[in-house]
Amino acid sequence: MDSGWITRPVCLLLIFVMAFPHLITSYSIGVGIADSTGPVAEIVFMGYAKMDQKGTGLHLRTFARSFIIDDGIERFVFVSVESAMIGHDVRSAVIAQLKKKYGDLYTDENVMISATHTHSSPGGCNLYTLFDLTTFGFIKQSFWAIINGITKSIERAHDAVVPGKIFVSLGEILNANINRSPQAYLNNPQTERDKYKYNVDKMMTQLQFVAEDSSPLGVINWFAVHPTSMNNTNRLVSSDNVGYAALLFEEHMNKNSMPGKGKFVAAFASSNLGDVSPNTQGPKCEYSGKKCSEQYTCPGKKEMCFASGPGKDMFESTSIIARKLFAEAINIWQREPTLALKGSVRVVHRYVSMPGQKGQFYNETTGQTEEVEACLPAMGYSFAAGTTDGPGSFAFEQGTTTTNPVWNAVRNFVAAPTKEDIKCHGAKPILLATGRMRLPYQWQPKIVSTHLVAIGNFLIAGVPGEFTTMSGRRMRETIASTVMESTHVKPIVVIAGLCNTYSDYIATPEEYEIQRYEGASTIFGPHTLTIYLQKYRELALAVINGSKLEPGPSPPDMTTKNLISLQTPVIYDTPRWGHDFGDCLKQPEEIVRPGQTVSAIFVSGHPRNNLMTDSSFLTVERIDNNGNWIEVATDGNWETRFYWARTSSILGTSQVEITWDIPLDVLPGKYRIRHNGYYRYILGGVFHYRGFSDIFEVQTAPES
Ligand SMILES: *[C@@H]1O[C@H](CO)[C@@H](O)[C@H](O)[C@H]1NC(C)=O
Ligand SMILES: *[C@@H]1O[C@H](CO)[C@@H](O)[C@H](O)[C@H]1NC(C)=O
Ligand SMILES: *[C@@H]1O[C@H](CO)[C@@H](O)[C@H](O)[C@H]1NC(C)=O
Repeated sequence: MDSGWITRPVCLLLIFVMAFPHLITSYSIGVGIADSTGPVAEIVFMGYAKMDQKGTGLHLRTFARSFIIDDGIERFVFVSVESAMIGHDVRSAVIAQLKKKYGDLYTDENVMISATHTHSSPGGCNLYTLFDLTTFGFIKQSFWAIINGITKSIERAHDAVVPGKIFVSLGEILNANINRSPQAYLNNPQTERDKYKYNVDKMMTQLQFVAEDSSPLGVINWFAVHPTSMNNTNRLVSSDNVGYAALLFEEHMNKNSMPGKGKFVAAFASSNLGDVSPNTQGPKCEYSGKKCSEQYTCPGKKEMCFASGPGKDMFESTSIIARKLFAEAINIWQREPTLALKGSVRVVHRYVSMPGQKGQFYNETTGQTEEVEACLPAMGYSFAAGTTDGPGSFAFEQGTTTTNPVWNAVRNFVAAPTKEDIKCHGAKPILLATGRMRLPYQWQPKIVSTHLVAIGNFLIAGVPGEFTTMSGRRMRETIASTVMESTHVKPIVVIAGLCNTYSDYIATPEEYEIQRYEGASTIFGPHTLTIYLQKYRELALAVINGSKLEPGPSPPDMTTKNLISLQTPVIYDTPRWGHDFGDCLKQPEEIVRPGQTVSAIFVSGHPRNNLMTDSSFLTVERIDNNGNWIEVATDGNWETRFYWARTSSILGTSQVEITWDIPLDVLPGKYRIRHNGYYRYILGGVFHYRGFSDIFEVQTAPES
């Protein structure tokens, strides 16, 4: 057969695309989702960096969601992954895996990986010392769960590519986020603040993907809010508010599919959430319930100042915020007409070694333009105090630091900041001169990823950290005005937060002067943002020009370091005396009703023996008229919770409690709870087991 018949239309398309790039309205689009849940037991969560916040089970699985957009010449992959952060080594490993399968199709340049920033997933996967400090070092199982989940989601998107269209829709939610450092925000120039109605962004930006045959494919949604509705006392792995919003959207579109199993994929991705909290009741004193001081402390006795709400507990707060996000997202999805994207896909990426980068800053107060420079990384004192979303975040409080062996091991080698460091960091009193700390290995990145992608007139700025509200606004303005200089059309710009490299916070120079948590954690000094604005302006010029940039210096490969890992492995499991794995120790009530919670307890193995990826530690099942057991819920559903406890570490016995909140719209009938797991045999090997509860009846008719 003449292969020309196949290649000719492609060539014609290419010629068309190259001649009229602005006329492209149809793209090749693929969406994919995969499970990225790490070990749910005994691993410290990343985010609050509280060393006693170790997992004891699972509420919501975490997923990676991928979107491929291709205009025939350029391909772009956007990944939103439910983890606290994403480090360079994770992205490198993903790209290396894809390379084995697809050659040079997926590269540093066209794969953007954004973490949602959930604070309830297992850590130990960033590799830089500071970020793995509170997790007792590197956790291989967390690291690979994320890499494999992301890779699998991209592969699924790759296999699902179809012709389609992209629409952009905007919305607004007024009561789902507040600024957690308003004192710092207020230090931004009055003239600038006057341009905005709120001290956080209230708009929602949604990209909507629809196949040529009009079937819905997916959405990417950006709304700036921290996934910290689940607070630092939570021990169940969770994707938090944005994760539940994604599940709600997917459940709505994929009727009768279990979490992570449907075709339609909805990502609620992170944005300029640096100073944005979902705890809308604001900060209050822990016991007295009184207002905190200006500096967010509680006078008198030792009590913490933290924010919560809008619900009565953290689960309800998560659900309320998630439902607000979902309601507006589905509202704009259903609204007609939306703006269809047209124009070519352009990707520009560059690694930048931040320390020593020079820039110019216009000082509003003096009316002068100053020469400024980015510093070696360092963290300020306020960083140790944490935020009102998680007070005392880094657990560096006296007395607790000495309990961390990693900290002990490196404490003696801590480098002192030099005179230049102190001068460079200006208002920041340096607690940790992380840029000079090399033992046991690098503490924080110096080389960061800068990434900008255009799909026609829609631009996604992938930033290597947490931009505050005003930093994000300045970035969007800079990119938009750069584009407008040559196109004269105002583009839509979104900030995709926590992309590719994690380099903490990016506050404005004015916010930095106030040294709240975000300013103290702006690691390259007062002009971190000033430098980024210039760098992204250069990226924007390249995007418009259709030119490529030099790749920049390569970040170090941390996987080659001798990574410290102090997490003890699972040695063995035994069932308790007279029992087998999977035996049900506590049966559910025989007759239950909607709104009640059913619970069953099973003899179990250690959940770290097998992550049950793309599967489940539990199912709730209903028997149908033909005698078949139908899956009603898995461990990824909001209604179920999976609690694990080691009952004796010497004997290696453990048990799990599985609970199910019976939905109000439940079908009446006979049900059972199933537990799936693996145990580690004392003489070696990991073996599967399962167990069932007795059958119980769900009654929906009113009680007589
Ligand atoms: C976390 O939320 C729970 C309620 O779910 C509450 O009892 C607790 O005080 C909160 N703790 C913090 C530190 O926010
Ligand atoms: C602007 O200049 C004043 C006076 O030199 C200085 O105190 C202030 O820190 C500068 N502002 C910023 C954001 O650098
Ligand atoms: C635009 O592209 C041309 C040709 O590739 C290149 O010479 C020029 O430097 C580019 N300009 C910018 C601002 O990137």
